[in-house]
Parts: sequence; structure tokens; C-alpha cells
Amino acid sequence: MPRVTIHLPSPLVVEAQVGQKLSDLLRREGHSPDMPCGGKGRCGKCRVKAAGRLSAPTAEETSALGGLLAQGVRLACCTALEGDAEVWPSADEAVGRIRLDGVMPAFEKAPLFARYGAAVDIGTTTLAAALYGESGLLARAAAPNPQRTFGADVITRVGAAMQGSAGALAACVRSAIAGLLRGMERDAGLAPDSIDCLVVTGNTAMLHLFTGEDPSPLSAAPFEAKRLFGEWVEASALELGCAPGARAYLPRCMSAFVGADITTALLASGICDKPDTALLIDIGTNGEMALWHGGALRCCSTAAGPAFEGAGLSCGMQGAPGAVDHVTVENGGVRLHVLGETAPRGICGSGIVDALAAMKELEAMDETGCLDEDEFPLADGVCITQKDVRMVQLAKSAVCAGAKALLHHAGLAAEGVQCLAIAGGFGSYLDLHRAASIGLYPAELEHRAVVLGNAALSGAAMILQNRAFAARTEALANSAHTLDLSTDPVFMDEYVECMEF
Ligand code: FES
Repeated sequence: MPRVTIHLPSPLVVEAQVGQKLSDLLRREGHSPDMPCGGKGRCGKCRVKAAGRLSAPTAEETSALGGLLAQGVRLACCTALEGDAEVWPSADEAVGRIRLDGVMPAFEKAPLFARYGAAVDIGTTTLAAALYGESGLLARAAAPNPQRTFGADVITRVGAAMQGSAGALAACVRSAIAGLLRGMERDAGLAPDSIDCLVVTGNTAMLHLFTGEDPSPLSAAPFEAKRLFGEWVEASALELGCAPGARAYLPRCMSAFVGADITTALLASGICDKPDTALLIDIGTNGEMALWHGGALRCCSTAAGPAFEGAGLSCGMQGAPGAVDHVTVENGGVRLHVLGETAPRGICGSGIVDALAAMKELEAMDETGCLDEDEFPLADGVCITQKDVRMVQLAKSAVCAGAKALLHHAGLAAEGVQCLAIAGGFGSYLDLHRAASIGLYPAELEHRAVVLGNAALSGAAMILQNRAFAARTEALANSAHTLDLSTDPVFMDEYVECMEF
């Protein structure tokens, strides 16, 4: 039986099987690299350093890695063990950029927990959690969502669940959440398994995959979820290792594609407590949005694709060290800000928005998105290609057209919106001016925009600390009218209109 040393950086020696893929071994040990293509050898993102008795490089590795192969870099999903080996997994770099804080209005405390409780947000890319006691916030923690090894987006993961990986998808996210809970207990000086109540929010698909619910209704027309949550579950059934008898509350989703994360973000934003018209948008692989107008809630979801998560672009990466996260125009050229004070090695979501705004300003790209050269170089080995521009163009158009369609059906123009509330990780790092200048949202709203941070987690924490918010969010989600953009002619027209930069 091969013995594999995993450098984390301290070495961990584990037993493995001949023929086992490095990705499977690393996933088993909880140190999986990013795997946006789900292990099909297509995205080239599951890079690790490895040495020892390994399978010969595949054609996919040769094409994705070139000269890096000679330096010991391999694709974990393509490399199989033939004997003893050593592996250096890429660090979980995304953790540093997971947004944990978010707006939270003042409210009376009437907690759901007896001694300690935790709020958890299961994001498609990241997990975030906060631990509370009688005195308030005790600890926070975050980790990448380990389900990313089954694919970067919700649809790929739902497909994986339907093809027999539902158990593995549930197990890996539960184990990662249990790890966050134990870590927070440790940080707060509590004994393990002290938590007696949880509130776990997330989009509709994430809650399906977390609870082990069959997600297949989310994958085919009419795309209607059979289960929208707003319910209690025994924590022991979720294998989260909490105090005996602990229970978890899963807030109510609005529809198959507007999840509990939007419900809890709305609670934290406080927009439904005011008479003003307000639009809340959370941009990720989907642009989920909700419009509060005249005491009524309308919502919709639009497919933005993975570009804003830094995936799918020729030089795309997560917001980790080496990622260009901001680009400005200076002296007729570009000036880059790179995360982690290091050389640029890729570009993340906020960076690509800025880069396109800069290219427009420098007239290196026209308003239809055509580049004047094949590619626009940002730094050594980091450039924006025509294909990248098209990908972002489709994504930003989908988000802006979704917002405009929602406004249209409420009989409103953008000027009628008093507040644009931007929730979620990508929105937290966005330069609002440059995002408006490329048409990511209606330009009229630029000076009415506020950034909420991780409002989904804040809203979950509010429910945890005041039991009345559970019923309140259920009523809110039940009252929401969902607009189906896939058959909406207004959305179709706006989608074409919004393509221009
Ligand atoms: S190449 Fe995409 S996960 Fe390995």
C-alpha cells in the first residue's frame, strides 16, 4: 500500500491505493485543490506539486502545464499513485478573502440557543460561520466550500449529486462545517460540542446538497424546488457534532434560484422595514436579486456564469495572493493592485471589472466589447483576451438586464429606486464606480449603492439571536413574487440592450 506524505506544510503521512488519483486522496484528507471542471482535466486549476511514483503526465497535463511539469507541478485530477509519493497541495488561499462581517441593525435579543449558538452561511464558493453566546459574538471562521472539487457552479454539483455523488457532496460540506464549529469553540475557549443551536443559510441548491435532499427538481424545467426549507432539523442528522439534542434551523428560500441566503440578507439589510423602494443584489455565479417596492417583494435570479468568481477566464483565479484585484488608469497605462504584495499571477472578479473599465477608458476596447488587439496585457503572463471580454459581457448584461426587468414589472424606472444594496463576497470588493461604468448595474443607481458585506451570514445570526425573525423571514419569503426571466420578453430585450459597455 503506497504511503503518501502530504506537506501542509507540516508533513502528514497517509496510506493510499495504487491507482488512486491525487485529487481523491487530497479530498479524503480534507485538502482538496480547486477543481472548477469537476476533475475532467479541462480547467487546469487543480495544480499541486508532487514527486515520487506517479503516473506519466496525461495529454491534458502536458497541454495545461507545459514547462511546469518539469518543476513537479501536476494536475491532481489526472495524476494517479503508482507507489510512495510526496504532495504539496496548493494552500487554501481563498480563506483570506472570505468576507465574514456584514451589516446588522440593532435589535432586541431573544436567542434561539440556550448557551451557545452558531450561524453558518453555505456559499457556493465559501463557507462562513459565527459563534454567539449570551454576551454576543464569540468567534468567526471561514473555509472554502469543499464541494468545489465536484465543480465550481451549482449546476455541475447538482449534476454530480444526480450521478451518485449526493452522499459525498453532503459529507464533505458537513465535515467542513463541523470543522469550523470545532475551531470556533476552541477559539472561544469552549469545550467541543458546546453549540446547542444552529441557523444555516445558503442558496436553495446548497441547502439541498447539505441536507441530502434530492436536487433533481432544480436541474430541469419547470425548475421548481419541492422543498424550500424554513424548517428545523436535528443537528445530529446533519453530523455536525453539536451538543446532545441540538437543532438546526434552515431559513426559508424564495424559489429554486432565490435562496435562503437572499432571505437572510434581506433581513440584515433592513430594507423591508422601510417605506423606500430598494433593490438588493447578490452577484456570484448567479445574480440573485430582490426588489422591495410598495410593501411588496419581487425577486429573480439570472445566470451570470463563473467569471465574477474568477473562474473560466484565461487568467482567472480566486481572490488569493497573486490575484490582480484592482486596476486603475494612470499616465495612459494601467496600474495594478495585487493581493498579498506579490507578483501578479492571475485576475479575480473585482479585478476583471476594473480591467474592462480601464480598457474602455484607454479605448483599447470599444463599446461593443471588441479589442483593438488580440489581447490586452496587464502584466507578465496575465492578460485579458477577447474571449474573456465576451464572458464578462454576457455576465454583466445578464445581471443588469435582470435588475431592469424586475424594475419594469414593478412599473419603475431606475430613478425610482432609493437604495441599491449589494450583498455577498464579490460585491464587497467591487469598485462601484467602475462596475457602473461597464454596466454591471443601472448607472443611475451608482450614488445610491451601499455595500452590505456578508449580509446572508448576518441575517442568519439575527435569527439565531432573536427567535421572532424566523417567522418574519418565512412570511417575507412566502410573500415574494418570483419573476421567471427565462420566459420574460422584457428581460430578453434588456439583455441585448445591456451588452454594450
Ligand atoms: S483540470 Fe479541472 S479539476 Fe483538474
